[in-house]
Amino acid sequence: MTSDLTTYMKECKKLIDGELNGFISQLEMPSELKEAMLYSVDAGGKRIRPILMLATAEAFGASKEKAFHAASAVEMIHTYSLIHDDLPAMDDDDLRRGKPTNHKVFGEAIAILAGDALLTQSFEVISDSLLRDDQKVKLITLMARAAGPSGMVGGQIADLSGEEQELTLEELEYIHHHKTGKLLVYSILAGAVIGDATDEQMSHLKQFGEHLGLAFQISDDILDVEGDQEKIGKLPGSDETNKKSTYPKLLTLEGAKNKLASHYDEALLHLAQVGVGTDRLRSLAKFIIERDH
Ligand code: IPE
Ligand code: IPE
Ligand code: MG
Ligand code: MG
Ligand code: MG
Repeated sequence: MTSDLTTYMKECKKLIDGELNGFISQLEMPSELKEAMLYSVDAGGKRIRPILMLATAEAFGASKEKAFHAASAVEMIHTYSLIHDDLPAMDDDDLRRGKPTNHKVFGEAIAILAGDALLTQSFEVISDSLLRDDQKVKLITLMARAAGPSGMVGGQIADLSGEEQELTLEELEYIHHHKTGKLLVYSILAGAVIGDATDEQMSHLKQFGEHLGLAFQISDDILDVEGDQEKIGKLPGSDETNKKSTYPKLLTLEGAKNKLASHYDEALLHLAQVGVGTDRLRSLAKFIIERDH
């Protein structure tokens, strides 16, 4: 990773970490709920969705200051999805972001409610932001769609129903595109809305994001097989235990890696057509396909 990208990611992460902690800390709520929300939010994570949003907004000349509220909102939704994804009724995982999962520390009921709270609260973060009203409405609509039944939640259901089954590549692509791709695409499109991109630019960015989203989840599946626990902050082998359908299982590890590379190539072809300075998004795409955590 270039030192320029490392510096940029650190800078964005600091901004997002501060906003998330600051926003949740000042809310009035029962203390055990606040503790549980902050536990997962402060555990860190790569913050890749907010970083993609900030980088896209900046590619169109909008400042980080304008975009960081909406960027924090998507991270709240993502963190909620992880808390629920780890629950015994879902993937039943014990480690997340290098720490015991939320329900292991606070119990299932509080973990479910901390997730609900992060999801609900994320919308207020957008409505309180510095954006124009038309941008807020657009973002709230797109975010609800990306996170809801036609988006991430739909993908999570399909992921669970696919356990112990041999899926086709098309079915697996549906799962990845929804459970992971939708929020990633949203993050990029939200940056474009904040930067007032044209419809044509949005359409190229959408296709860039769709390929990047698939690449991101394929790499997650690969890391579940051969990742280092210290680096990924979760226990590898969860997919095998849960008999999930994954790219490595369907295509072999080598086939999954080839698929990852081809989605990366496709993503870059679409990015090249956006027509503004997208060097940073290109570097982020490279980070995503080469990541070890
Ligand atoms: C993990 O997401 C779950 C997926 C959707 C693949 P990340 O790999 O972005 O997790 P954090 O936020 O860095 O912990
Ligand atoms: C994650 O898929 C999807 C969402 C949380 C929406 P995984 O179940 O593969 O994510 P990890 O591997 O637990 O992070
Ligand atoms: Mg899962
Ligand atoms: Mg999981
Ligand atoms: Mg996984």
